[in-house]
Amino acid sequence: MHQKDDNSVLFGSGDELPSNHSRNPHFNELIETPLARRQVLAGGAALGTLAFLGAALPRVSLAGEHAGQAQGKPAFRSRRKLPFTPVAISRADGISVPDGYKASPFIPWGTPITGSYPAFLEDASNSAEDQAQQTGMHHDGMHFFPIDAQRGPGRSSDHGLLVLNHEYIDAGLIHPNGPTVVDGKRVSADEVRKEINAHGVSVVEIRRNLQGGWDVLPSARNRRITAATPMEIRGPARGHALLRTRYSPQGTATRGTQNNCANGFTPWGTYLTCEENWAGYFAARDSELPRELSRYGVRGSSRYGWETLAGDEFERFDASRKASSAEDDYRNEPNHFGWIVEIDPFAPESVPVKRTALGRFAHEGLVFAPVKPGRPLVCYSGDDSQNEYIYKYVSRDKYRPGRSNGSLLDDGTLYVARFDANGKGKWLPLAIQDKAFQKACAAAGVTFADQGEVLINTRLAADIVGATKMDRPEWGAVNPDSGEVYFTLTNNKSRSEPDAANPRPANAYGHIIRWRERSWNHAGRSFSWSLFLLAGPESDSVGPNGQPLGAHSLLASPDGLWFDPEGRLWIQTDMSGSQLSSGPFGNNQMLVADPRSGELKRFLVGPQGAEVTGISATPDFRTLFVNIQHPGEGSTADNLLSTWPDGPGKRPRSSTVIISREDGRRLL
Ligand code: FEO
Ligand code: CA
Ligand code: CA
Repeated sequence: MHQKDDNSVLFGSGDELPSNHSRNPHFNELIETPLARRQVLAGGAALGTLAFLGAALPRVSLAGEHAGQAQGKPAFRSRRKLPFTPVAISRADGISVPDGYKASPFIPWGTPITGSYPAFLEDASNSAEDQAQQTGMHHDGMHFFPIDAQRGPGRSSDHGLLVLNHEYIDAGLIHPNGPTVVDGKRVSADEVRKEINAHGVSVVEIRRNLQGGWDVLPSARNRRITAATPMEIRGPARGHALLRTRYSPQGTATRGTQNNCANGFTPWGTYLTCEENWAGYFAARDSELPRELSRYGVRGSSRYGWETLAGDEFERFDASRKASSAEDDYRNEPNHFGWIVEIDPFAPESVPVKRTALGRFAHEGLVFAPVKPGRPLVCYSGDDSQNEYIYKYVSRDKYRPGRSNGSLLDDGTLYVARFDANGKGKWLPLAIQDKAFQKACAAAGVTFADQGEVLINTRLAADIVGATKMDRPEWGAVNPDSGEVYFTLTNNKSRSEPDAANPRPANAYGHIIRWRERSWNHAGRSFSWSLFLLAGPESDSVGPNGQPLGAHSLLASPDGLWFDPEGRLWIQTDMSGSQLSSGPFGNNQMLVADPRSGELKRFLVGPQGAEVTGISATPDFRTLFVNIQHPGEGSTADNLLSTWPDGPGKRPRSSTVIISREDGRRLL
């Protein structure tokens, strides 16, 4: 999903408006060195930042070594250039991949996967009950679990569970003639239930067939998790007074997950779905909102108006104070969202668990540092909203292969990143027992009763310690060659003051930042960072090789990010509006970068109005799964802006795409 201007009216779907009004950190305080000052003050000019690229992190040389070696440093192998012909930009209503590759749509919205397997009806007249047995709308983050992955990493490349998020809905397409609204209110419970059921996650057992294609298997493992599925709340915020609701007076349970953007997956074979722009699903009409609502952008009206229907299943989306106590209304319901949810795809009866130790914000995704037996588990997550932060979680207990489970995600320390202008950075703990955190709270005049309250107010805690406001952190990925962590910063039109890590005011095109933990210790508190690329047109961009982007590498609004097993970085874009219609970039796309050489080439272009997002591969790297979200975004039944993937006259549908080489060999 991408940024839109108006989120205040029914169906004005989009990301949340900026809600970080904190004053930290001030730009001038970050400028510590003359070099950094000169580079930052160059502002939006790509040449001004050129010198900074790679300044903090020595560029990986083709000889395969970093400067500044330290113990445990990774070794690099040299390799040939990216072995495919780049795809030209395109505005066609289809998928383009390089010569020698094929791309096939798979499990589009409405594909029957469970229950009575109700067929998709092209006029969108499937019921809410049907929708709960079909794949949801707006595919996003995704992971392929080899079928043998419940006992170790899994090696099967022909059979597995494909697990994917359904981020949001296109209200104009999900019903035959759009939603029924009377006097600004929803009037059809079945319509709203269908929308609720089109959210969440799908688990689909799939197998490669003799022709080399893939089939959905009728399987007891196939499952739909929706915005109404019962879930458990675990971690430090479990049972907190701020989580008590009419549904869960103990504050330990909730219903559903929503706006599931990117994802993660654990070393013990579970899936993590991340709640991103959840605030817009709620309305809170009180004249003054508590900080755990206001700092997250909850407002007086909701995006889809679900709360305007009578009945507990809908009233829970109204967070106004209606009763004398929190146990009798849903004032705290929004506090049940903004978490990361763990799902065991191999156990279809399992109850999904919201892991509160990972913090509450607009979680884009979750990416793990390489796990090492006997060492803590470390993972990273970005808060995708303008001027929000990047976080890291370090487990208290050590990782033990074959024995560790989700409880590792319940007890640990959440840190937030400060990117200093000298190319260094710090991880600042958001821990109530930490002395520096206590001091920062006292200086800010802010109190938290306990760690649960810190986590429910993660954004405020991060404000207090002086984290660096970023240009909308989206996906992260960890380079298997070097251990360096890469994050996309997709754009930020509300930035007025550039800083070293976000060097462009009103950053229209976005960039990619990377860092290396000090001494390659992912659990540590210090790192070095640099910019990997500045996206944009040729006149305002810098590629990984230090040169402006060219015809084969132009991109804007980087979003999805993934390292393949050989250390190549796959970059997906989520451009919108004028960038799509009149920019030099064409439709949204996916590119491949080689951080060792600085090479960057376009691999795929998506259909009209679509975002390219979500990526996973089989262990043999012969099959790549990619999601195409919201083709023909904004379409209605009588105004189809795309007809992908079904062709002329058919409603556009979000869909997975299976990519392979025509000769059946490894993808690259
Ligand atoms: Fe749902 Fe941040 O993209
Ligand atoms: Ca996006
Ligand atoms: Ca995204």
